[in-house]
Amino acid sequence: MGSPLSKFMQPISEETFNHKDHEEHKELDEKLIWHKMGQGGGYSTTSTIRAIYGSVSFEKASNLHAGLCAAKSGRRGGSGARCCAASPLTMAFPQLVLKNGETPAFDPFVHSVVQTALEDCMTAAPVFETDFPGLPLKARGKVRDIYDLGEHLLIVATDRISAYDVIMPTAIPDKGRILTTISSFWFRALAEVVENHLVATEVENFPEQCKPYAKALADRSMLVTKAEPLPVECIVRGYLSGSGWRDYRSDGSVCGIKLAEGLLESARLESPIFTPSTKAEKGSHDENIDFDTLCHQVGTDLAEQLRDLSLALYEKGAAMAGQRGIIVADTKFEFGLVGGKLTLIDEILTPDSSRFWPADRYQPGRSQQSFDKQYLRDYLDQCGWDRTPPAPVLPDEVVRNTRTRYLEALERLTKS
Ligand SMILES: Nc1ncnc2c1ncn2[C@@H]1O[C@H](COP(=O)(O)OP(=O)(O)OP(=O)(O)O)[C@@H](O)[C@H]1O
Ligand SMILES: [Mg+2]
Repeated sequence: MGSPLSKFMQPISEETFNHKDHEEHKELDEKLIWHKMGQGGGYSTTSTIRAIYGSVSFEKASNLHAGLCAAKSGRRGGSGARCCAASPLTMAFPQLVLKNGETPAFDPFVHSVVQTALEDCMTAAPVFETDFPGLPLKARGKVRDIYDLGEHLLIVATDRISAYDVIMPTAIPDKGRILTTISSFWFRALAEVVENHLVATEVENFPEQCKPYAKALADRSMLVTKAEPLPVECIVRGYLSGSGWRDYRSDGSVCGIKLAEGLLESARLESPIFTPSTKAEKGSHDENIDFDTLCHQVGTDLAEQLRDLSLALYEKGAAMAGQRGIIVADTKFEFGLVGGKLTLIDEILTPDSSRFWPADRYQPGRSQQSFDKQYLRDYLDQCGWDRTPPAPVLPDEVVRNTRTRYLEALERLTKS
């Protein structure tokens, strides 16, 4: 399947076809045709599930099978009638028909059970922290573990999530893989704007010492050129939100840039603005600074380059995201020096470094529904946490909803 989601599935097990119930249902199962794929061949239940959602392990496929049967018999008055997995699947997905042309009635209840079951079986255990003996750990950031491989760094995105600069005790399954996929998409798409640090994303192209960890590293790691990071965050805002909105409300300006009067929350700015901030040490918060302060810190030449490149990256990225129905309200870039040359580093245009809003629901004058961490921040605000560690354990529902938002951002941004 071409869906960007398909790589977030569990690997298939060799045993899949030994499922004892399989024989029993084989005949009917094999009559399933996956029409949407435009292929006329018969598919077994398992391969149908795989065709829809990628691979699932034997164990999970069999749990799913049992869950589907239970859902169906529950729906049918608890008759306990034996059923084959093909039936609930066909009841859940109108695209599936039997070879004899029968189309079982679409059942929204079974559909929702199937969706939940599939989501559950797709979800891999979250990775809170990595540890690869033999690879020298340089640092653990809030989200990523960084290994020093000499000329290169290996940046491994874990599933940790932070809010208000505090790491949550609960990780979001697949988040690191989603972020890495989004970031590498943008590094490639925006490569002509400025040199970036990306060297490789495929483990087979990593140094030999990484190979024993290929499975754990897959999809969540990047080999990058080691840079000397500049101590600033290069933020670009196209819309008024977050700390920009807060600053504007207090004195009508953001980072020393005076804005028009009477702007509403989430208003689109006449043109995007560059609003740098300090890069705070662990445990403290970044602070917005004005352009003069930036010039003072890194020199006028470099400050101007940072501003111009950040604006150029934002404009191109936001235009591409816009074509895919996503507004990039604001975003943060980091730069470093590689042999004296300015280079884009870290991650770019991910839901962790940006505010992403669905364009079709955009409405100034209020905060926006978003594909980013805002959902988690809102949850944390309403549960009364005071933003100092430790953060509360996140309920399953918040984990699931957060994951769904990250996946949706990935799918929207990177689908061709
Ligand atoms: N090419 C690079 N060379 C050197 N450091 C890099 C490079 N790319 C990213 N980094 C650094 O790696 C770290 C990424 O980890 P993560 O984003 O989890 O950290 P963080 O908690 O946000 O930390 P920080 O507050 O320092 O950004 C950042 O400190 C970033 O500056
Ligand atoms: Mg970071």
